[in-house]
Amino acid sequence: MTKNTLFTPLSLGEDLELSNRIVMAPMTRSMASEQLVPTEAMAEYYGRRADTGLIIAEATIISPMAQGYPNTPGLYSQAQIEGWQKVTDRVHQNGGKIFAQIWHCGRVSHPFYLNGDKPMAPSAVALQGRVPRSNDLQYGMPREMTEAEILEVIQQFSQAAANARKAGFDGVELHGANGYLLDQFLHWETNQRTDGWGGTPEKMARFLFEVIDAVKQQIDHVGVRLSPVGHQHLSLNEADLAISDYVLQRLNRCDLTYVHTGSHDDTPFDHIQGTVTQYIRRLYKGRVIACGGYSVNTGRDALAGGIADLIAIGRPLIANPDYVEKVRQNKPLAPYDSSMLDTLDQ
Ligand SMILES: Cc1cc2nc3c(=O)[nH]c(=O)nc-3n(C[C@H](O)[C@H](O)[C@H](O)COP(=O)(O)O)c2cc1C
Repeated sequence: MTKNTLFTPLSLGEDLELSNRIVMAPMTRSMASEQLVPTEAMAEYYGRRADTGLIIAEATIISPMAQGYPNTPGLYSQAQIEGWQKVTDRVHQNGGKIFAQIWHCGRVSHPFYLNGDKPMAPSAVALQGRVPRSNDLQYGMPREMTEAEILEVIQQFSQAAANARKAGFDGVELHGANGYLLDQFLHWETNQRTDGWGGTPEKMARFLFEVIDAVKQQIDHVGVRLSPVGHQHLSLNEADLAISDYVLQRLNRCDLTYVHTGSHDDTPFDHIQGTVTQYIRRLYKGRVIACGGYSVNTGRDALAGGIADLIAIGRPLIANPDYVEKVRQNKPLAPYDSSMLDTLDQ
C-alpha cells in the first residue's frame, strides 16, 4: 500500500474532494462586526488560505447565549448567513472547501456577553480565572440548564447547521472540545447532573449524540472535535476515560465525516497510552484529523504512519497564508507570533 503524504488527495464523499491533506484548524480571531457578522476582511483572509485541502472556519456561536468572547461570528441571524455566504463564495472561487465550526461556550462566558444573564452549563460549577480581553472580569457561577433549555440548545445547533448549509458551507464541525458546552457534558468535573443527562457515561454523552442526530438531518457532512483529556478550561481527570471510551466507540455508529483532535499532540499521556490522536485512532474507526503542534515533518510522518488521515495546522497558517505553497516548494516558514492576531491583514 502506498503511504499518504501531505499532498495525497482525499475524497470525503462524492461532492467533497480535498486536493491535499492539510486542514486549516479553526482559530477564533474576534474580528466579526459588532452584530457578530463576518466581514469582507474575513472573506479575504479565508480566501487567501483556500489552497489548504479544507478550511475549518473559526468557532461560530449558535445563539446570543452561546457567546463568550468579543466579536465572534454567529450563525443565527440572516445578516450572519449573508456574511458567511461571502466567505464561502470566496473560498469556493479560489478552489477551496470550508466547514463551519458551530459552538456554544456554556460556562466559559460572563454576563457581560449575555445581556446580564448568567452563563448556562450542565451543572452550577464555576470556572476559575479571568475572562480574556475583558478588562479583568472574573468567570462566575453558571446556572444549571433545565431540561427545556437542553432541548432548546439542541434545536439551536440544528438551526445553525441548516444556516451553515444556506450560507454555502460544505459541512459543519461540532465544537465538542476545549471545555466548551458540549465538552462540559463529557467530564465529571463539569457535569454533576443526576437526571437523564448525567451520572453515567451514557447519560453524559446523550447531549452530544442528540446534537449529532439533529445536525445530521440538516447537512450531509458533520465532523466532531473532541479533547478527551480536558486540556483547556477543565482539569485533567483520568476518570473521564470511561466517558471518552464510550463516546469514541459509539461515534463509530454515527457516519461522521471525521473526528478531529482538539488538544495538543506533542504530549503523550500514560492513561490513554499515547497522544490524544493515537487514542482516538485506537477506538474510532473513521477518518481522523490530527492537530496540535505539528510541523511539516511531523505531519508528514503522522500521515505516512497512518496515525491520521488529515493534519490540521493552526498557528503556522496564521503566520503563513501561503503555507501550502511554501511546503510544496520546500521554502522556509515564517515563525508565528501572537501579535499577528491583531489584524487580518496577512
Ligand atoms: C488564536 C487561536 C484561536 C483558536 N481558536 C479556536 C477555535 O475557535 N476553535 C477551536 O476548536 N480551536 C481553536 N484554537 C485551537 C487550534 O484550532 C489548534 O488546535 C491549536 O492552535 C493547536 O494547533 P497548532 O499547534 O497547529 O497551532 C485556537 C488556537 C489559536 C492559536
